[in-house]
Amino acid sequence: MKNIVAVNASPRMGWNTDIVVSEAARGAESAGAQITRFDLYRLESFTGCVSCFGCKREKTLGKCVCRDGLAPALEAIRSADGLILGSPNYLGDVNAQCRALIERLIFPLITYKKEVRSYAERRIPVLLLLTSNSPGAANVELMRRYKGLFEAFFGPTEFLTVGETLQVNDYAPFAWTMFNAQERQQRRETVFPEECRQAYEAGARLAGE
Ligand SMILES: Cc1cc2nc3c(=O)[nH]c(=O)nc-3n(C[C@H](O)[C@H](O)[C@H](O)COP(=O)(O)O)c2cc1C
Repeated sequence: MKNIVAVNASPRMGWNTDIVVSEAARGAESAGAQITRFDLYRLESFTGCVSCFGCKREKTLGKCVCRDGLAPALEAIRSADGLILGSPNYLGDVNAQCRALIERLIFPLITYKKEVRSYAERRIPVLLLLTSNSPGAANVELMRRYKGLFEAFFGPTEFLTVGETLQVNDYAPFAWTMFNAQERQQRRETVFPEECRQAYEAGARLAGE
């Protein structure tokens, strides 16, 4: 049985990123995979890379040696058969927790050697999910960049952008004049379910690879 790690980088349980990550995980399960799930905001505290270069020492080559709240997730990903990683867009990028995970996943795999590029022992497929206020199409370039990074050090990478999300159930208390709350609600009921279905199918494809 394939073991897929699913990571939700959003602090808001029950909201957009959590839901699309869960759908992708359900899709992977439907294809026979077993899911190990991590919600980054529920872990013990952790940081991004602290530049200790432990991952470049002979004894711990290719592995992050920092023993904080992220260590169990990094270990699980190292032995997984696939990775689902979902983040909200914060200020035009994945959020800080997601970025911390990416730093500590990928920097250890970079060799700093001319002859060999990566310390990765094997390649695994990856599914990246990004939710945002902006339309999904506005984040395609960003996600292409992450796809390139993951393909260089992990394996075949697919991504799905889920835009114009519903941010709160009731927009009334907020002075958010740039949003049409009714349109957002309608989109949530009509388009979002289709995006969830796409996440489910992408999860199933990932588990089938
Ligand atoms: C701190 C912060 C920064 C954000 N920056 C952006 C942004 O630059 N572009 C964008 O499209 N959405 C931005 N958003 C909106 C979220 O990406 C969007 O609502 C997302 O779906 C939230 O995910 P969640 O429902 O899982 O929390 C931001 C939200 C927060 C809280």
